[in-house]
Amino acid sequence: MRAAVRKTMTESMGYSDSEHIPVMREEVIDSLQCRPGGIYVDATIGLGGHALGILEKIQPGGRLIGIDRDKESLEKAEARLKSFRGSYRLFHDNFKNLPLILNNLAIEPVDGILLDLGVSSYQLLSPERGFSFQFDSPLDMRMDRTQQWSAADLVNSTSEKELADIIYRYGEERLSRRIAAAIVQQRSKSPVTRTAQLAGILNRVFRVRSRHGIHPATRTFQALRIAVNEELEGLADFLSEAIGFLRSGGRIAVISFHSLEDRIVKRTFRSLAGQCICGAPPELCTCPKQTLAYIRTPRPLTPNPGELAVNPRARSARLRVLEKI
Ligand SMILES: C[S@@+](CC[C@H](N)C(=O)[O-])C[C@H]1O[C@@H](n2cnc3c(N)ncnc32)[C@H](O)[C@@H]1O
Repeated sequence: MRAAVRKTMTESMGYSDSEHIPVMREEVIDSLQCRPGGIYVDATIGLGGHALGILEKIQPGGRLIGIDRDKESLEKAEARLKSFRGSYRLFHDNFKNLPLILNNLAIEPVDGILLDLGVSSYQLLSPERGFSFQFDSPLDMRMDRTQQWSAADLVNSTSEKELADIIYRYGEERLSRRIAAAIVQQRSKSPVTRTAQLAGILNRVFRVRSRHGIHPATRTFQALRIAVNEELEGLADFLSEAIGFLRSGGRIAVISFHSLEDRIVKRTFRSLAGQCICGAPPELCTCPKQTLAYIRTPRPLTPNPGELAVNPRARSARLRVLEKI
C-alpha cells in the first residue's frame, strides 16, 4: 500500500504517523474478557492505546493499573486517559515489580493482565532516543532514561566476543562476528557514540542492502536494544509470578514481537498449564505437572490483513493468552 494512502487511513483512525497504533486492540480486549467493574493491569501501558480500550469496556466501576518504565510515554498515556481520571493509577516502574505494586495497593486478585512487549513507535521514531538508524542521535536506546547503562556504554565497553554473541542471539544476525570486529576496530580509534556512526560501520560491513529489503542495520540495532534494556531477563519468572495475582478465570495476554520472546512466553504458558517443556520421552520427563492454568491460544493469534495494511509494524506480533483455573 502506498505510504500516502496508509497515512490517510491511520489519520482517519485518530493516529498520527509517528504515534503508536495499538496492535490487535480488539483481540486483546476480547481475550481479556474486559467487563464492567473488573480490575485490569496494563503492565506496558506505553501511550495508553490498549488501556483506553480497556477503560472504555470496564465502566462503570472498573479500575486499571498501568505501568511503564518510560516516563515520557507514561505522561502521554496520562494525557490520553484523562477522561477516566479516578479509574486508573499509573506507575513509572519495571513490570517485574508488579507484585510489589499490587501488594502496596492492597488490591484483591485482578481480572486480567496485559503485556505488549518491545518498544513503541513513539520511542522508535523519537529522534533523540537513539533507537533508530534513521536519525543521527546519541546512541542511547534506554527505555527508562533514569537507567545509567546506554547502548553507547554497551558498544564501547563489551568484549568483542560478547558483542558478537549479543548481535547473533538477539538480532539473529549471521554476520555478527564481522560486525563486532568492525565495531571494536572503530572504537580503538574513537568511541562509537552516535547512531549514524554505528549505521556507517554496519553499511561498510554489508556494502549492499539485504535481499529481503530489510535495512542491514535493523537486526543489530534490535539486538543492542534488547540487551541494553534486558528485555528477556526475568520474563519467564514474571509470568509465573503474575498468575498468582489473577482471580480464578482471570487471564493474562502477551503480545511479543521477537521469536525468542515468543518462545519464552510459549514455554512458560505450557509449564503453567502442566505440560511438558523438556521434550524428553514421557517416561523420562521430570517437568512438574501441576496444572495452574489453561492455554486459550493453542496457536498464537496474529494481526489480520486489514490491520497489517494500516500498520505494517505489527507484522511480527504474536498474541498468546492464558486463563487461570
Ligand atoms: C509496544 S509498547 C506498548 C504500547 C501500548 N500497548 C499502547 O497501546 O500504547 C511497549 C511499552 O512497554 C514498555 N516496556 C518494555 N519493557 C518494560 C518493562 N520491563 N517494564 C515496564 N515497561 C516496559 C516500553 O517502554 C513501551 O512503552
